[in-house]
Amino acid sequence: MATREVYVSRLQADGLYKVFGRAPDEAVRRLEAGADRGELRADGTTAAVIDASFTVEPGQIFVVMGLSGSGKSTLLRMLNGLLEPTAGRVLFDGRDLTSLPARDLRRVRATKISMVFQHFALFPHRSVLENAAYGLEVQGVPRAEREQRAAEALELCGLGGWAASWPNELSGGMQQRVGLARALATDADLLLMDESFSALDPLIRRDMQDQLLELQKRLKKTIVFITHDLNEAMRLGDRIAVMRDGRIVQLGSAEDILLRPEGDYVASFIQDVDRSRVLTASAVMTAPDRPDAGQCDCPSVAPDTTVAELCAVSARVPHPVAVRDPEGNVVGTVPQQKLVAFVGGDDEPQGRPAACGDAARPAAVKTASQNTEKEAAHA
Ligand SMILES: Nc1ncnc2c1ncn2[C@@H]1O[C@H](COP(=O)(O)OP(=O)(O)OP(=O)(O)O)[C@@H](O)[C@H]1O
Ligand SMILES: [Mg+2]
Repeated sequence: MATREVYVSRLQADGLYKVFGRAPDEAVRRLEAGADRGELRADGTTAAVIDASFTVEPGQIFVVMGLSGSGKSTLLRMLNGLLEPTAGRVLFDGRDLTSLPARDLRRVRATKISMVFQHFALFPHRSVLENAAYGLEVQGVPRAEREQRAAEALELCGLGGWAASWPNELSGGMQQRVGLARALATDADLLLMDESFSALDPLIRRDMQDQLLELQKRLKKTIVFITHDLNEAMRLGDRIAVMRDGRIVQLGSAEDILLRPEGDYVASFIQDVDRSRVLTASAVMTAPDRPDAGQCDCPSVAPDTTVAELCAVSARVPHPVAVRDPEGNVVGTVPQQKLVAFVGGDDEPQGRPAACGDAARPAAVKTASQNTEKEAAHA
């Protein structure tokens, strides 16, 4: 697989709408005029996706995140042409999928796009290898070639030794990996993954996320990944679209969403995320604090080091930690004070006070003696 030249595709959604129910075109006009999902529902019409526009660049993992019913799967089905949009276009490598003749669309779907679902249905009476080769069989690839490619894909997914086994001999996580191998074996360069890891136990799920990130480093597919789990979205997504009631309410990197949430909905959504495990040195660093930054033997970090890992390094370094790009150039430094403030939720620390009492004490922080005084006054 690694030896074949793969041209990676670009995907673009342009003003996509999907309305289920009566008079969908009329519903689109009302939505364009500002109506929301709730108003249409009163007439028995469901606006599943409302005005979705975005671009997924080649080699990117684009995550669509939202609660149940927000429109994620409907959006995904429009991206591969399984559902016809009520309005808008899907451009795949510049070609409008929505206006392709049915035969061409089937060919694009069979050769360029693969889907991995939440519960991947394997054929129980076929071996793991035959299951992984299924997509190629549909394409009419001769047996020897498809088995070789399927074996390579199984190897990539950590299932090299299981080719001759039956699906019921595999755990749920392993079966899900066979699904991933089937998608990878076809050489499709667009992978559409709908809650692909959601049915797995937390540890196996994390393992699958790592494996996907590792595979992606080598394969550089264009991936649209659907999830309702914010932590999964943050771990995997180069860009993330947050959906609510059919609309994309924010589109950006994990950093954008955590540091600059647009609106109360997104702000409340991200409340419980452990920022120190998502945000990286590049989000907290400042310009190098002195010309000789990074010249000593102290440890430095890469820009994609998480803030949590950075804290551990900072504890061992007596000055701001240097951040180096892959070529070794110092691109910034992280003062310990900034790091501590950031972990504590203060993104813009104003500088260290010169002496105790120079900084206003936050109202919420009370010393034991203050409490005692208050209690004494009460008494
Ligand atoms: N074929 C259909 N006919 C009518 N309504 C539909 C149809 N498919 C989806 N819907 C409605 O569209 C809305 C979005 O559904 P969708 O399946 O896209 O949500 P989702 O975000 O994928 O949810 P989940 O996380 O539960 O999978 C829901 O209100 C759903 O009831
Ligand atoms: Mg869904």
